Amino acid sequence: MKPELLAACVPTAADSGAMYAPKIHVLDAGKENWDVIRDIAHSGVQEEAFYVLDMGDIVRKHKEWKLKLPRVQPFYAVKCNDNRNVLEVLASLGASFDCASKAEIAKVLEMGVQTERIIFANPAKQVSHIRYAAAVDVRSMTFDSESELYKVKEYHPRARMVLRIRCDAKKVQCPLGIKFGAFPKDAPRLIALARQLDIDLVGISFHVGSGCDEPEVFRRCISIARDLFDLATDYGYTLNLVDLGGGYPGNRGSSIARIASVINDAIDEFFPDGCGVDIIAEPGRYYVASAFTLAARIHGRRQLTSDDDDDQVTSYMYYINDGVYGSFNCMLYDHATVTAELLEPRNGAVYPSSIWGPTCDGLDRIAANMPLPQLQVGDWMVFQDMGAYTLAAAGTFNGFPVPNVTAVAHQHTWLYLLDQMPMAAAHFTMAPPIASVAPPAEDVIDLPPSAKTCAMQMYANHASGMGSGSGSGSQGQGLPSSMSSASIVSLDTDPSDAVSTASSDAGNSALDDAFPYPDCVDFLADLLDATSVM
Ligand SMILES: Cc1ncc(COP(=O)(O)O)c(C=O)c1O
Repeated sequence: MKPELLAACVPTAADSGAMYAPKIHVLDAGKENWDVIRDIAHSGVQEEAFYVLDMGDIVRKHKEWKLKLPRVQPFYAVKCNDNRNVLEVLASLGASFDCASKAEIAKVLEMGVQTERIIFANPAKQVSHIRYAAAVDVRSMTFDSESELYKVKEYHPRARMVLRIRCDAKKVQCPLGIKFGAFPKDAPRLIALARQLDIDLVGISFHVGSGCDEPEVFRRCISIARDLFDLATDYGYTLNLVDLGGGYPGNRGSSIARIASVINDAIDEFFPDGCGVDIIAEPGRYYVASAFTLAARIHGRRQLTSDDDDDQVTSYMYYINDGVYGSFNCMLYDHATVTAELLEPRNGAVYPSSIWGPTCDGLDRIAANMPLPQLQVGDWMVFQDMGAYTLAAAGTFNGFPVPNVTAVAHQHTWLYLLDQMPMAAAHFTMAPPIASVAPPAEDVIDLPPSAKTCAMQMYANHASGMGSGSGSGSQGQGLPSSMSSASIVSLDTDPSDAVSTASSDAGNSALDDAFPYPDCVDFLADLLDATSVM
């Protein structure tokens, strides 16, 4: 039995018709994220790479932001990771959103977020996206050029425009100033045009670059913003918004303390409390980087040997099922470095090793020369801090799927969110985050009809392939002997009929009666027992 066939029977959010994101699994006391990864990886049905998303980490980040930057309202940059659970939890905690496109705006509005809590922070927007913003009344938008002002005048005259200036950090993971941000010297010209077009100019924004390692840059930028506030008064504007953009670190062990201290001092100096100016920021990686942990499985190994006659192993090459065209696109686009850890540590001699993604492209390499013990096909590698700019830009090149995300929460996070989230109960499940393990009796999942039908079809297919025997059938894969041939042949419906009519209630009933499992999870588990995963 191929795991992907089993995976097809695992209920998805779409199957259950849920209005919400896939449910967040509440963890039993004492369970940690690594236990969850282990449970899923060793469940026997998991072949593909997968993520575990720790909702508690998102909540912790938000609390830390509010504590360290109390005057700065966060507008989470959706582009960084648009996972629905993340967006819903942030929305319920009171965060606002930075959207780059029509689709991102739609996604945030779909959750019931008010338009005032959205900034359309892409300085170069397509006309259809501007028209959409106008139609849904998202008014705050950034710009850094004349052409944008002309478009806004024509398609969204009620917009509240924020001038993005260029102000770059000297040490940064991803410089953004090369693409966006008007030089401060060009600001007078743009402000004059805004005045001439009678556009509502409300503020100044900047982005120091993503992954900023120079906290002092924020003081420089805030001071320039102050100068431009003063300049704008010459044109009859009273600006009331400073947007500090993104750039805040988010990996485990990082802290926004230094940046926060620079920002707090600078805003107190240049825009003191009570001066009528709102301060916002657009953090992306800060919120999500550490919350997502990726597990990927080794599906191939090559050993390279010395040229001498003794055939000594000199190095190993490992092939895993996520690569630079999937999650590890962050290595190319986000200039990220990643660290592979072993789900189950192994002792023994260490060899120079390389790690490769699943596609046929030679570019698809994750690590070049890493000391690793000898690993086996079937071993799992774990990559932490994989939440920022990974899934958001991942594709399915060569047909490899983007990994699924399983969201989990410890009980204290769950209890906290129960008080925060509208319709909170609908967001959570007590079922363990493992497809192959039956949930505890008090929280039996009612599997959606599609999953049950799928299991029944497999049952009927196997029955027809086996004839009256058990063990290895004519397809080379028998049903478990516990599924007696008597129960199979007692089906008074031709199995092929059962398959073709499985979606109709009437056609299903005979097979339904004969289907000897209370739900398809048990069936799948039994089937799995009797067949090989690989
Ligand atoms: C306009 C804008 N705002 C915010 C962000 C988020 O930046 P970060 O993830 O560094 O916080 C980005 C990232 O590209 C951006 O382009």
